[in-house]
Amino acid sequence: MQKKKITVLPGDGIGPEVTREAIRVLEATGKKYDLSFEFQEFAFGGAAIDEYGAPINDDLIEASKASDAVLLGAVGGPKWDNQPKDKRPEAGLLGIRNALGLYTNLRPVTVYDALVDASTLKRDVIEGVNLLVVRELTGGIYFGKPRLIEQVGNEEHAVDTMEYRTSEIERIAVAAFEAARIRNRRVCSVDKSNILDTSRLWRKTVTKVAERYPDVELDHLLVDNCAMQLVRNPKQFDVIVTENMFGDILSDEAAMLTGSIGMLPSASLGDGTGLYEPVHGSAPDIAGTGKANPLAAIASVALLFRYSLNLNDAAQEIEEAIQTFLGQGYRTADIASDNKTKILGTSEVGDMITKLISEKQTNFQE
Ligand code: IPM
Ligand code: MG
Repeated sequence: MQKKKITVLPGDGIGPEVTREAIRVLEATGKKYDLSFEFQEFAFGGAAIDEYGAPINDDLIEASKASDAVLLGAVGGPKWDNQPKDKRPEAGLLGIRNALGLYTNLRPVTVYDALVDASTLKRDVIEGVNLLVVRELTGGIYFGKPRLIEQVGNEEHAVDTMEYRTSEIERIAVAAFEAARIRNRRVCSVDKSNILDTSRLWRKTVTKVAERYPDVELDHLLVDNCAMQLVRNPKQFDVIVTENMFGDILSDEAAMLTGSIGMLPSASLGDGTGLYEPVHGSAPDIAGTGKANPLAAIASVALLFRYSLNLNDAAQEIEEAIQTFLGQGYRTADIASDNKTKILGTSEVGDMITKLISEKQTNFQE
């Protein structure tokens, strides 16, 4: 049995609850592929601030670098909202993305047939939606310098800086085109090139990279138009590639096509260890109630198998188990659309998914 090292950062709020179920699914699936796991867990985000006064530390960065993958829950909560910016849970998240060089953030948006009616959008608009947001994750306005708030005369003045280099745009464009090659071979690059110089460089660079991918069709959309198109006709999209902040906003919007942000997994990849986390936040309002939807965390484990362990079959098994589960009428509170569905709590979802996976014969064993 091969052993894989996983760094676990459960984080805050519902983070630990959904991560627990994700780990169960990881172990149940790994077992079928002759893998066992060694877990090293660290307090992260608000939990780390409470434990030692900072959202992230070198030990957990080193452990993450030395592991095969990092599994993260969620960070943040009202308790830490008034901390200075480097002592906020979110600084931990940006810190680990930066330390591991995770410049590619993949956020697949799949509308499951069984959940079509859980969306606030009409059935014919969202039925069959299957798109991938490729978000640049270590550049742009999130990391640009200078950034400051200063007193100028009798008022305050604040600055954030959006910046990109050609090389940063090139590598994320390559990630998007490569992703499109194993999907429907269409990339939509999103920018604000009618206003921003970073966007002009973005568009020029993506267009140049596209020459290396003649088999993939490239379109460009302005970000405001893209926001509109996502709710008007989301089926037009295959791969959307965009800079850090646009990707943050558009991926939340795209998430709601699926009915709940509780459904969206993500993979953050660079040149080393990959990190996997649900797109949703720490939902402090429902933390500890056992109601949280662990499906995004579980679907993130599928991405972990696909991108860090190179086991696409295992990834598919998890994704199919989620589909079967929903097809059988099981839901969590956030995606319940009518009274015919059976509402389960966080750990019951984990029970069901691990059972579906463990009981199913895999091609691998046959
Ligand atoms: C996300 C989140 C983070 C981001 C926050 C929590 C820092 O919204 O992963 O989308 O803005 O990147
Ligand atoms: Mg976000």
